[in-house]
Amino acid sequence: MNILVTGGTGYIGSHTCVELLNSNYNVIVIDNLSNSKIDVVDKIKKITNKDFKFYEGDCCNKEFLNKVFTENQIDAVIHFAGFKAVGESVLKPLKYYRNNLDSTISLLEVMNSFNVKKLVFSSSATVYGKPESLPIKENFPLSTTNPYGSTKLMIEDILRDLHKSDNDWSIAILRYFNPIGAHKSGLIGENPNDIPNNLMPYIVKVATGQLDELSIFGNDYDTVDGTGVRDYIHVVDLAKGHIKAIEKVLKENTIDSYNLGTGNGYSVLELVKTFIKVNNVDVKYKITKRRPGDIDACYADPSYAKEKLNWEASLTIDEMCRDAYNYVKKNK
Ligand code: NAD
Ligand code: UD1
Repeated sequence: MNILVTGGTGYIGSHTCVELLNSNYNVIVIDNLSNSKIDVVDKIKKITNKDFKFYEGDCCNKEFLNKVFTENQIDAVIHFAGFKAVGESVLKPLKYYRNNLDSTISLLEVMNSFNVKKLVFSSSATVYGKPESLPIKENFPLSTTNPYGSTKLMIEDILRDLHKSDNDWSIAILRYFNPIGAHKSGLIGENPNDIPNNLMPYIVKVATGQLDELSIFGNDYDTVDGTGVRDYIHVVDLAKGHIKAIEKVLKENTIDSYNLGTGNGYSVLELVKTFIKVNNVDVKYKITKRRPGDIDACYADPSYAKEKLNWEASLTIDEMCRDAYNYVKKNK
């Protein structure tokens, strides 16, 4: 089976390519390298000892997509390509609506014209807005609090409409919780160039001395120790969820959404303390005021993915902390 992976040199895409290749799928990768580096291609080949085709190009460009579909016999697509920074999406909404919606609609049109109707889409727990209760189930009401989240929800709606119009489409919508960690080789992972917005990349940069101190955004939430609680999931577990989703869309013509999380919530302080213990390294932190838009707690009920996809996360919070640090130490 030949799987086209858009955004395949990015953080989650690269780990998913490794799992696909290890499961004997052929992989064709597209990325415009707007948020990743070309050397990831060789790193994926090194980890798996397998070869694959890489196309540098933009998913908003239908001519380019037509060329990729003409040159390859594609069975299914995993669509990761998109922008993902929540804060930037508030400042530059058009950039987000243009790229995330245009890339998806262009891809769907080209898939349709080549009669390739099997898709796995990267959505996010952000589509649950501020959930009224926890843990979060797939049938909870959907809403968004920022333009990035709105692009994800709009794309989900487009996919549901598309399936309604043509039942030949087979689509798995994966709602990720908080992916962290890296491949244990230390060859691929997440290490943003700019000052990170997300917690784990920030912790790692403090641990490696690239930043002075972590600000913990608030300790007066209604949680175990007052700091925000999230469902952190090892990126390798998340990547494995995509293999199960691909098996599902190849087998059945349905559309369905699945939470990919562990079901466990950890507070900011718990994560920081675990990181310090596991890696035997200091992480300086201070408590500051809340970050606007943040919620007390967010964690998944992952039982539907277990039931329908036969998938569940298995790597621990210790492994997430160890692998995240290992990657950045090797790639400072
Ligand atoms: P990433 O930025 O590391 O990877 C996305 C990749 O897509 C990058 O390599 C980028 O260069 C590429 N890209 C962007 N726009 C493109 C375009 N128009 N054409 C071709 N390539 C393009 O992000 P990630 O963390 O790997 O996330 C992958 C997907 O998962 C995204 O859709 C993101 O919104 C979603 N997601 C991520 C998280 C998370 O915490 N990382 C959480 C929920 C959902
Ligand atoms: C954010 C996004 C979400 C996206 C997810 C994964 C927002 C509002 N939401 O979620 O849409 O799907 O990333 O990419 O941005 N924290 C600190 N100090 C820091 C950074 C974070 O204390 O320097 C705290 C936050 O307040 C939160 C927790 O750490 O309680 C996790 O934050 P983060 O990693 O940014 O993820 P989310 O806010 O859950």
